[in-house]
Amino acid sequence: MTIGFIGTGEITKAVVTGLSTAEGEKPVILLSPRNADIAAELAATFDNVAVAGSNQAVIDEADTVCLALRPQDAEAILEGLNFGTARHVISFMATFGVERLKKLVAPAMRVTLATPLPAVAFHGGPTPIFPPDEDVVAMFAPLGTPVAVETEDEYQALCVATATLAGAFAYYETISDWLEAKSVPADKARAFSGAVFYALAATARNAPDDSFATLTGHSATRGGTNEQVLKNLKDDGAYQALWKALDGIWDRFEAGKS
Ligand SMILES: NC(=O)c1ccc[n+]([C@@H]2O[C@H](COP(=O)([O-])OP(=O)(O)OC[C@H]3O[C@@H](n4cnc5c(N)ncnc54)[C@H](OP(=O)(O)O)[C@@H]3O)[C@@H](O)[C@H]2O)c1
Repeated sequence: MTIGFIGTGEITKAVVTGLSTAEGEKPVILLSPRNADIAAELAATFDNVAVAGSNQAVIDEADTVCLALRPQDAEAILEGLNFGTARHVISFMATFGVERLKKLVAPAMRVTLATPLPAVAFHGGPTPIFPPDEDVVAMFAPLGTPVAVETEDEYQALCVATATLAGAFAYYETISDWLEAKSVPADKARAFSGAVFYALAATARNAPDDSFATLTGHSATRGGTNEQVLKNLKDDGAYQALWKALDGIWDRFEAGKS
């Protein structure tokens, strides 16, 4: 089984690292030559990884081809390539729907969308998948939690939710920066803000049946400091802004469907 990647950037690096460090037999991996530094680093690190001479060589030599190009570059690059009829194409590219991709990779007919998160590198990422292709589920199972869904709208909604990572990190960055402004040393500020972040994640993970509203309620003691911060953020429209941002990403996906 040879898995090819066209677009050797951040997400390809994470997926290739996850696949090459998972238990069991490793797939043979063939990378597009660009980005040259990342491709060379991955090939030097893992015995099962090689760099192809061109994007077309990736398609010709791999059984399955993963597309991880930046959305704004993808169309022009894919239009210059020939996909064989038998190729299974897995696209990681945000905003590209199945129908649009099928036109770009014709005559290949088997197209699956997947959105891995960077945490797949250490086998801890949820990966939305559509349509629910069992080979793609098997590929991502060692990398965390595959989430195969039956409709493209559900897949799109999960992808929109994955656009919140940078905003969530920036929330903890703000807390860390505020601690520093209060003279907490930078390394302690980073460590403490991170520890709060991990504790919250562990709390949510250990109570999978509690809604987020329940978890919020448990954290906001009546008349306490958590309640005050929550109220201030709500009054200032922080959560409405997040909702609006999610709607904006949904609209961007809608525009990229065909
Ligand atoms: N990052 C994430 O967490 C994440 C998660 C899920 C899905 N995605 C999706 O995955 C795609 C890639 O994201 P990314 O963050 O990995 O972006 P990225 O780091 O910018 O990677 C894109 C790669 O494509 C390469 N490239 C440019 N022109 C090329 C060409 N003609 N042929 C082959 N490769 C070429 C770039 O090389 P150069 O560096 O030389 O320009 C770069 O290495 C996007 O569509 C994104 O929506 C990203």
